[in-house]
Amino acid sequence: MAEQDQRNSESFTLTNNSTGDEFELQVLNGTVGPKVIDVRRLYADTGYFTYDPGFTSTGSCESNITYIDGDEGILLYRGYPIAALAEHSDFTEVCYLLLYGELPDKTQKDKFNNDITYHTMLHEQLNNFYRGFRRDSHPMAIMCGVVGALSAFYHDSLDISDPWHRMVASYRMLAKIPTIAAQAYKYSIGQPFIFPRNDLSYAENFLHMMFATPAEDYEISPILARAMDRILILHADHEQNASTSTVRLAGSSGANPFACIAAGIASLWGPAHGGANEAVLNMLQEIGDKSNIPEFIAKAKDKDDPFRLMGFGHRVYKNFDPRAKVMQETCHEVLGELGVTDEPLLELAMELERIALEDEYFVERKLYPNVDFYSGIIFRAMGIPTSMFTVLFAVARTVGWIAQWNEMVEDPSQKIGRPRQLYLGETYRDFVPVDKRG
Ligand code: CMC
Repeated sequence: MAEQDQRNSESFTLTNNSTGDEFELQVLNGTVGPKVIDVRRLYADTGYFTYDPGFTSTGSCESNITYIDGDEGILLYRGYPIAALAEHSDFTEVCYLLLYGELPDKTQKDKFNNDITYHTMLHEQLNNFYRGFRRDSHPMAIMCGVVGALSAFYHDSLDISDPWHRMVASYRMLAKIPTIAAQAYKYSIGQPFIFPRNDLSYAENFLHMMFATPAEDYEISPILARAMDRILILHADHEQNASTSTVRLAGSSGANPFACIAAGIASLWGPAHGGANEAVLNMLQEIGDKSNIPEFIAKAKDKDDPFRLMGFGHRVYKNFDPRAKVMQETCHEVLGELGVTDEPLLELAMELERIALEDEYFVERKLYPNVDFYSGIIFRAMGIPTSMFTVLFAVARTVGWIAQWNEMVEDPSQKIGRPRQLYLGETYRDFVPVDKRG
């Protein structure tokens, strides 16, 4: 959309109550979604900043990739609703869509799959790099380290001003991230690394690298592979969330893409973001029994208690999380396939969901179950250990980070990200030598 087309006839006039000075703020239109007040000239023209911790009212970039309407529970990748993609598409096709803006035709799809498949192995020296970690390292710690280290191994794709380098780096990240993740797991349980197989799909390959051993092949259930593929689709992008904004901010200085994705992984690790799926399982285990639910609900509502109901609430979705709906269905499919009929944690989760959805505190604040509420239960049923849950989120989100990073680098108006602050510290003071202090 050309800048001229984004302009809305509306504008705001800011009036300074003390001086009477006025400043006109232009309103911009997106193709869909709330209108945006353009404050780019505000500081230069008035000497004032805006103040918005947590960026609750601030857009940080233009983007064509993902659209969320939190009130209506809508999530679109390049215009396509998430439920339609989860039902009819597959993960690598969704990757192509996120990266290139359109669904691939048959030839494009085959070539893309082939290109990704042939980049899945890691440099052998990188395999040795794992051995520097303690065996009991959290796999997210290994992910941050190994992904950051990719910049030390693939020197031929670090020039971000070269579109070819950017493309090769993007394909490498996308292709290698499941291998890196599965190897982090294998390392933590003391098993040898399992190499990728080129005859398998992206999701199948991940399950194979996680669960096969040199002594025994892993029989991949089509239902579990489909569920894994769906989980990857559902987590692939989510516009300007904390980790994506971290990737953009890191990249805005011209840092290489591997370093930027490592920064994104670090941000994702936190329990308020990608770490929530692990936290949900830990919480369910802590609750232990349905009879304890009221006590934990009371703790979640108590403002003096830092406990929050993990897997509930979202910064943007104030209706329901459309990913959670698909996830709930997938959850039942997986449990059916695995013959899990009496999974106590699932029963506990369903009861918690029911009670929370009826409780005035949660209803008033529009705190619905989010995607992480169900993903933890599915992963557990698949035999994936809790410490790997956030790693899986990182595997899926890598494509979103890459697509957003590429969009930023290609944007001619891109500038280094440099927020300002409301300074509340000491003003100027003279230095006092140590023998004169106190
Ligand atoms: N349990 C209890 N109370 C909550 C919860 C919760 N999970 N989430 C929000 N609240 C309350 C909060 O205390 C506040 O109450 P009040 O208005 O009385 O002060 C109100 O709801 C609004 O919350 P907020 O903290 O202002 O909302 P936020 O947009 O800053 O936080 C959130 C969003 C996701 C960090 C938060 O809901 C949360 O901590 N949820 C649990 C962690 C979680 O499940 N995270 C995964 C998010 S989805 C995956 C992803 O995108 O990474």
